[in-house]
Amino acid sequence: MNNKKPKIDVVILAAGMGTRMKSALPKVLHPLLGKPMVEYIFDAVRDICADPPLVVVGNRADLVKNTLGDQARYVLQEPQLGTAHAVMQAREVLRGTSDIVLVANSDFPLIKAETYQLLVQTHQREQNKVTISTVVAEEPRGFGRIVRDESGRVTGIVEEKAATPEQLKIKELNSNPYCFDATWLWDALDRVEKSAVGEYYLTDLIAIASKEGQPVGTIEIEDHQESIGINNRIHLAEATKVIQQRINGKWMLEGVTMVDPDKVFIEDTVTLGRDTVLFPEVYLRGKSSVGEDCQLGPSVILQDTTIGDRCKVLFAMLESARLENDVDMGPFGHLRRGAHLDDHVHMGNFGEIKNSYLAPDVKMGHFSYIGDAHIGKNVNIGAGTITCNFDGEGKYNTEIGENAFIGSDTMLVAPVKIGKNAKTGAGAVVTHDVPDGTVVVGVPAKQLLTGRKKEQNG
Ligand code: UD1
Ligand code: CA
Repeated sequence: MNNKKPKIDVVILAAGMGTRMKSALPKVLHPLLGKPMVEYIFDAVRDICADPPLVVVGNRADLVKNTLGDQARYVLQEPQLGTAHAVMQAREVLRGTSDIVLVANSDFPLIKAETYQLLVQTHQREQNKVTISTVVAEEPRGFGRIVRDESGRVTGIVEEKAATPEQLKIKELNSNPYCFDATWLWDALDRVEKSAVGEYYLTDLIAIASKEGQPVGTIEIEDHQESIGINNRIHLAEATKVIQQRINGKWMLEGVTMVDPDKVFIEDTVTLGRDTVLFPEVYLRGKSSVGEDCQLGPSVILQDTTIGDRCKVLFAMLESARLENDVDMGPFGHLRRGAHLDDHVHMGNFGEIKNSYLAPDVKMGHFSYIGDAHIGKNVNIGAGTITCNFDGEGKYNTEIGENAFIGSDTMLVAPVKIGKNAKTGAGAVVTHDVPDGTVVVGVPAKQLLTGRKKEQNG
């Protein structure tokens, strides 16, 4: 072996039907905490391969390719004649390009980057032709059994369907992934024979190598969680639980409190600040981030939402929204796309805000809908205020100047502008702009002529 760093290609087998998922969605696209299962493998092998992994696709190939995009390369296996046949399709693309080929099943999202690295390092150090990953477990889960001779050398992997009663008792199982010497692999694939069920088994390569006297090595995966393979939705739930524990564990060690970590669901795209407290039933999704010293929940969903420091959110759904610092929201609120609440905004019960900016210190206590609006500093929005932003055809804007006081049950028929320090009476239906400092009442709202045209709020 020379000293040149070997080039490694990763092949991910993803053409199978995944029949036991009983799903219209291909198995590899089933998400675990928001991310398709195969993307966990992309993440884990990222530092090993220079080029993107080559995914062998078959079942609903176009959907898989379109969903995963250019994170990977693709080759089609049609029809699907087994795992060795899948790797043969990869051969067309990869022959001559790499020194080592790492092959992984697509349905093992929990195998860690460290394990892939250990496999590759062991393979290189021992100069094996094949290195396999084993797990020793009481429950065989349908895995292939590792067969060894009296001296302990691996002589093959026997699939459960083909195993003798004696072999079925073997506790050392084939987990995957595998490392192969590329040149040896591409030739040896042609020596794999069709099995009794008509498939070409990748695992037959181990007996082929052994018979040829080639070095076959193993690594043992000691953490059994890593070798959870997903064949049905029970396994999917088990694996999701493990990912949830990994992510929540990481954030707790970073200083986030979780009252009940089993009931907190954080996707791996989310960031959190220290001393933030998460109560049960919190879902943090997509490109969301939460600052320090916040309290979220019970029952809060964040999707692509940014929250600053010291915010409190209780029973709420926030989508593509932004809270600055010290915002207090809920119980029961909905922020939709483009809702932006600046420092110290208070939003009370049963409110909805869409595509609107609320400047610092705005108070919106109860039952309001604010859409397509710009609301100035320190405005008070009375209970039941509605921006009537949609006339059945177009959407229109509302602007409210600072220190304005919007009376309970005001209808702001957009487009409309309420001036600074203006007031609306309870039940006003405002159809025209209201000048600074004036008071309007009634339906439609008219200026109240009290002689006190300018009313300065504190
Ligand atoms: C395979 C192994 C078994 C191992 C187990 C768990 C073989 C023959 N057996 O069994 O020893 O214990 O995984 O690691 O490999 N696939 C294709 N094309 C095909 C068939 C399968 O791409 O024609 C893909 C599947 O999508 C899946 C992977 O290969 O991601 C493994 O196939 P699967 O049928 O699940 O193999 P197992 O029976 O689980
Ligand atoms: Ca499987």
